[in-house]
Amino acid sequence: MREVAIVGAGMTRFGELWKYSLRDLFVEAARGALESAGADRLDSIYVGNMSGGQFVGQEHLGPLCADHLGMAGVAAARVESACASGGVALRLAYLDVASGASDLVLAAGVEKMNDGADVTAVLATASDQENEVYHGITFPGLYAMIARAHMAAFGTTEEDLAWVSVKNHRHGAKNPNAQFRREVTVEEVMASSPVAAPLRLLHCSPVTDGAAAVLLCPLSEAKKYTDRPVKIRGSGFATSTLTLADRENPAVLDAVQLAAERAYKAAGVGPKDIQVAEVHDCFSIAEICCIEALGFADRGRGGQAARSGMTALGGKIPVNTSGGLKSKGHPVGTTGVAQAIEIFEQLRGDAGERQANGARIGLTQNMGGSGASSVVHIYERGF
Ligand code: COA
Repeated sequence: MREVAIVGAGMTRFGELWKYSLRDLFVEAARGALESAGADRLDSIYVGNMSGGQFVGQEHLGPLCADHLGMAGVAAARVESACASGGVALRLAYLDVASGASDLVLAAGVEKMNDGADVTAVLATASDQENEVYHGITFPGLYAMIARAHMAAFGTTEEDLAWVSVKNHRHGAKNPNAQFRREVTVEEVMASSPVAAPLRLLHCSPVTDGAAAVLLCPLSEAKKYTDRPVKIRGSGFATSTLTLADRENPAVLDAVQLAAERAYKAAGVGPKDIQVAEVHDCFSIAEICCIEALGFADRGRGGQAARSGMTALGGKIPVNTSGGLKSKGHPVGTTGVAQAIEIFEQLRGDAGERQANGARIGLTQNMGGSGASSVVHIYERGF
């Protein structure tokens, strides 16, 4: 296997982007990635996308995206693993370069959620139709059950959940690409509209349009494109049961834990070596469960991390410096790639007001559904 580096990145602003179509979003992000590396060719393109067919009636995104980038002919396909689609696209791009099959590969994510579709129903297709959706469950409902299970098992409180949102909005206020660039207080979170108890509006990631893309090549060739490459040091991927009720303990994200173990092993590092991380906070409880599964906090203790400042900028391990899915936004199939861009910028020292001091090793964790699929990547400054 060859060592692989990220050498370029591009993304759109996140939000309700009514004037952009899905293809516009992809092209803006992809051009940004190519131009930032001075590259004008590609061997292949992986497009993370959860549900173009249902959100905007468009499937077969590989050729569509390659064509509108002016690169018809290049190998290109859509990758789907619900909200983990972007992270899995990145993994396939990484393996494509690592294997020696391709030398210059684009890992992208694109989602256009605000175009009139019934978003809650489309998102619910990522859970189990027969065992969950048929009975009326929605994603806020599934994560509300995870929150209840965590509260019952470990004593996590509604205030602990609120602190995750407060921290991530504080970070997102510093991100020019974020959907919500405003801070919120614990009191505001706890008084926001109920969505699925105990989760309220300000515990939820929003409905978002946006695209992101990163350019990968062998580390040995990275200096052709940038003097500050970021190496992908390890990749781990795992699944769990699709039905939440089939898990031994719904408060434990076992696919995240397995994916992390695999990524740590591949990278030859452990949780204590990670200096900055982007994790999948689609709901505030998800960040708490994820930092436990990643080994940043002991099981059951994740609820105290945001409140204590441990996961805030300036803390022991800053988590979701981009604002996370909560504040930056969550264009579902794009998220895994956008997370990689935040860590790329952090390790290059390009994160501006959001910069985590001196970070050399970073991690991203992306997941699909109620945690039924998860992918973890570990990165290291390559210069
Ligand atoms: N966080 C903060 N503010 C939000 C928000 C969020 N998640 N979602 C909407 N808002 C704001 C809007 O900007 C709007 O503000 P305004 O009145 O100042 O313009 C207001 O709240 C109402 O927005 P609206 O779009 O009508 O909200 P909604 O009730 O239709 O949707 C949710 C709110 C929480 C139901 C929706 O964002 C949602 O479904 N989120 C979860 C998405 C999801 O499940 N993703 C997959 C995860 S696995």
